[in-house]
Amino acid sequence: MYIDISKINFGYDKNQLVLNDCTTGIEKGEIVAILGKSGSGKSTLLRILSGLEIPSNGEITIDNEIMVSNHHFVEPNKRQIGMVFQDYALFPHLNIMQNIQYGLIKKTKIEREKIALEMLDLISLNEKNTKYPHELSGGQQQRVALARALAPNPKMLLLDEPFSNLDKDLRKQIRQDLKRIMNKQNMSCIFATHDYEDAKDIANRILYLEDGKIVKIEKNI
Ligand SMILES: Nc1ncnc2c1ncn2[C@@H]1O[C@H](COP(=O)(O)OP(=O)(O)O)[C@@H](O)[C@H]1O
Ligand SMILES: [Mg+2]
Repeated sequence: MYIDISKINFGYDKNQLVLNDCTTGIEKGEIVAILGKSGSGKSTLLRILSGLEIPSNGEITIDNEIMVSNHHFVEPNKRQIGMVFQDYALFPHLNIMQNIQYGLIKKTKIEREKIALEMLDLISLNEKNTKYPHELSGGQQQRVALARALAPNPKMLLLDEPFSNLDKDLRKQIRQDLKRIMNKQNMSCIFATHDYEDAKDIANRILYLEDGKIVKIEKNI
């Protein structure tokens, strides 16, 4: 598997495991939904993948490279993982082009602009390049957040309940956009949601998280 998550144990409190021998794998280009009730540990699993929390046991590899094990820890900024959250977290004082270029500081100005233009094209917001976040709709802001996460060409993308703030119709539209964009980029993606419709609409596989364990895996065809 491109991403291997093996026997992850984690608790915020020593006496209570939030993740209990959590094991799964994700193929290159696959979209996997983590479906579970509020408090089931979805965000925690994403935080461990991104390196914001350290498991007490277990191992994660991406493309055969150890991210975390009992002996190794790769810092979050070295993992090449993109993240999108429910509240978009765009920088209000930066315009759309600048927001998308935010994670590209190591590139030259010309490279940064080239990538940002490609990303704008990908999310079909070319004409909005000089607008500021507050001038965009919720759905458009979510697409910009996605473009910003994809711009540094991460190895995988983590999405934590990215549609929670969107109304039902928009949600449906954005799900389709997201799926199209991910497939085009052949991006591996883990997507946490409590909404079965979200998972069913987008994911290649649905992993059911319950009491810190993956209790069921459903192939979505
Ligand atoms: N920073 C934290 N400190 C202590 N407990 C936490 C923290 N974050 C989450 N938890 C607890 O861990 C469990 C899993 O939370 P979380 O991963 O946020 O679940 P989900 O994203 O599925 O709603 C919950 O019981 C929650 O209360
Ligand atoms: Mg959560």
